[in-house]
Amino acid sequence: MMLKDLIIASRSYRSFDEHVKISEEMLCNWVDCARLSPSSINLQMLKFRLVTKQNELDAMLANTRWAGKITDRKLPPEGHAPTAYIIICADTDVIATAEHFLKDVGICAQSIMLAATEAGFGGCMIGSFSPKTVTEVLALPDNLSPRLVLALGKPDETVVLTDLPASGDTSYYRDGDTHVVPKRTLEELIVK
Ligand SMILES: Cc1cc2nc3c(=O)[nH]c(=O)nc-3n(C[C@H](O)[C@H](O)[C@H](O)COP(=O)(O)O)c2cc1C
Repeated sequence: MMLKDLIIASRSYRSFDEHVKISEEMLCNWVDCARLSPSSINLQMLKFRLVTKQNELDAMLANTRWAGKITDRKLPPEGHAPTAYIIICADTDVIATAEHFLKDVGICAQSIMLAATEAGFGGCMIGSFSPKTVTEVLALPDNLSPRLVLALGKPDETVVLTDLPASGDTSYYRDGDTHVVPKRTLEELIVK
């Protein structure tokens, strides 16, 4: 697949086939793609906590908030939860003032999501969680501060892209069971 096709395929998925597990080896391979990504001042101040044990998967599902704009159904649906998570953490032992370098988080997140997509998996970046609670339920050491959650699994829903409606509303929505994501046009994005 060409890179652009991979980017198009790498949507935010919120429903998964729970029978399809992701091996530790595969997760490590995806983190390796983050390891090789650009890093502010090359500090490499991020650490990656893998979550695959059922009790931790349950805790992560209970402590993440999904698709706030979709209110007519529960996402992920019952029985369609992610089968792994990668928690991207800032390591304050590497740099105490982590706040300056958090752009690295998004870069690593996208590297991981693209690697997952290439391997036939997918997921959703989750910013809506309580770092304090996640630190507690995963017993993270004091130097690790969770910044972004990557929920991962074998997607079993359809996501399509569309142009923005005339109203200009960027909200994603459901058309039946299909998840629809409006994207601005390229023309609108390029500054003239
Ligand atoms: C940094 C970041 C944080 C996000 N946090 C959440 C979240 O907490 N819950 C959720 O359901 N989706 C979350 N998303 C997914 C966005 O809603 C999604 O990217 C957007 O709707 C566009 O869909 P697409 O990823 O398929 O293009 C997040 C995305 C990013 C980039």
